[in-house]
Amino acid sequence: MDEAEGLAEFCRRLPKAELHAHLSGSVTEATIQKLQVKKGVAPDHAHQGDTSIGKGETRQLQEPFRIFKIIQELSDTEEAIFMMTEDVISEFAADGVRYLELRSTPRHVPHTGMTPSSYVESILSAIQTCKDREDVVVRLLLAIDRRQSVETAMNTVRLAQEYALRSHGVVVGIDLSGNPAVGDGRDFIPVLKEAQNCGLKLALHIAEISQQATAPETGALLLLPPDRVGHGTFIHHNPDLAAMVADKNIPLELCLTSNVKAQTVASYGEHHFQHWYSRKHPCVLCTDDKGVFCTTLSEEYRLAAETFGLSRPDLWDLSFSSIAHTFAGEDLKQQLRLRWNSEKNKLLQTR
Ligand code: IMP
Ligand code: ZN
Repeated sequence: MDEAEGLAEFCRRLPKAELHAHLSGSVTEATIQKLQVKKGVAPDHAHQGDTSIGKGETRQLQEPFRIFKIIQELSDTEEAIFMMTEDVISEFAADGVRYLELRSTPRHVPHTGMTPSSYVESILSAIQTCKDREDVVVRLLLAIDRRQSVETAMNTVRLAQEYALRSHGVVVGIDLSGNPAVGDGRDFIPVLKEAQNCGLKLALHIAEISQQATAPETGALLLLPPDRVGHGTFIHHNPDLAAMVADKNIPLELCLTSNVKAQTVASYGEHHFQHWYSRKHPCVLCTDDKGVFCTTLSEEYRLAAETFGLSRPDLWDLSFSSIAHTFAGEDLKQQLRLRWNSEKNKLLQTR
């Protein structure tokens, strides 16, 4: 095995926590083909090759949102949601992810009878099915799409509140995502405060595009404050915002390939990981949409090592420190640390 292969193998075997993974964006081509068969659109491969952005390719940020829509249209029944959740969990587990926080936007599809509740139940049921089969602990965040009304967003928070109890703690929080060029995040602040008041954690996409470095919503959302920030790509372009994030020590979910392929970051070397990591700010490597962007979490660790010169012990520390930023309770965090430590020596000794 040469050095490059050795590093890739190390990253695959490294126990990892994935904290920023959208369900629809995480499905791979194989699952999409199964969804097409179910819907009877397989013979002409209507969407094949059209649902991911391959190696070396980049597309404008609007493109992933067109792809999410295709995948969402293919997954409009409870059965489809169950199947794609199972597939995504198995794939993360096979990649060495030992703790996974999935996030997804509950959908109402009148023509198939799927409701936001049955959508969430299908995901929870797949999580339960995978519990004994896959070597990964899974938690769920319910997502608010910026395109939605404040009323829909409030219903999502109520659903999360209800299922946090009914799922015995599998539902842990709320995500704010969706096309960053659409809407004003400030509209959702009362809803997000309500989520905080009922004990739900907040992981918010903030400053994903350059306009948001100066948009009033960015400071307003950071003031909540969220428990974690997704991307935060342009936060360090504004010293006041960067100081808020640094002072409150808000962990950042950083998705290298997603940002490069969606062209919000010009190249891996220019990724804001470097800015924050060099300042010892809490950073967690994540995939965002592993299916759409054709990546894996181990590939993101490998890319970080290759681009920023991280050693194997650095990668270990990065992965181990991500446990502190999960939305798991203290007991589970402790179990995860034991799990990680049980693999440490063997992993770091192998060349
Ligand atoms: P779903 O919520 O499981 O259907 O996953 C797809 C949804 O996640 C999309 O419709 C977006 O709302 C959201 N999403 C996925 N990736 C991104 C991103 O990079 N930025 C903002 N929103 C995203
Ligand atoms: Zn995201």
